[in-house]
Amino acid sequence: MKSLIVVVSVHHGNTRRVAQAIGEVLESQIREPEELAPEDLAAFDLVGFGSGIYFGKFHERLVAFVERLSCGQGQKVFVFSTSGLGRASANRPLEELLRQKGFAVLGSFTCKGYDTFGVLRVFGGINRGKPGEKELGKARKFARFLRILVAEGGENHA
Ligand SMILES: Cc1cc2nc3c(=O)[nH]c(=O)nc-3n(C[C@H](O)[C@H](O)[C@H](O)COP(=O)(O)O)c2cc1C
Repeated sequence: MKSLIVVVSVHHGNTRRVAQAIGEVLESQIREPEELAPEDLAAFDLVGFGSGIYFGKFHERLVAFVERLSCGQGQKVFVFSTSGLGRASANRPLEELLRQKGFAVLGSFTCKGYDTFGVLRVFGGINRGKPGEKELGKARKFARFLRILVAEGGENHA
């Protein structure tokens, strides 16, 4: 299986660590949006999109890239994020955008990431050390689940 991960990780490299954990399992190429043309995605069986959550949203560079993609024609994708709050609901808008574009969203992963934004820095930040082994272990498990789904040709509608 050929897989690609498109990642933007600007605060502490938290989301890049998750991308690397998933990428180890899936043997993925890991790229930033600016390193890719939309047409490049067609060469992959599975494509992941991830970033930190900034002001409640995925990074604008990642969203802008997804917005430039033409119809997904059922291509298999997944979404992941890290954030201060670690809420799965933050992933929904990107999942929805991908579905609207005709991609098959196989799954979604999120976890907490070290956050020193704004006033948090005064207190040493929150989630120090995250994602750590526990979160990265969950990311690898998620990746194994994706690998099985792709092998079976299935789609998770949950
Ligand atoms: C400018 C900025 C805004 C942020 N806004 C949010 C937010 O709205 N909700 C949240 O849970 N975390 C927020 N965070 C925390 C980041 O999502 C978190 O630290 C994430 O793990 C950063 O990922 P990265 O290191 O890959 O960039 C924000 C961080 C920054 C720097």
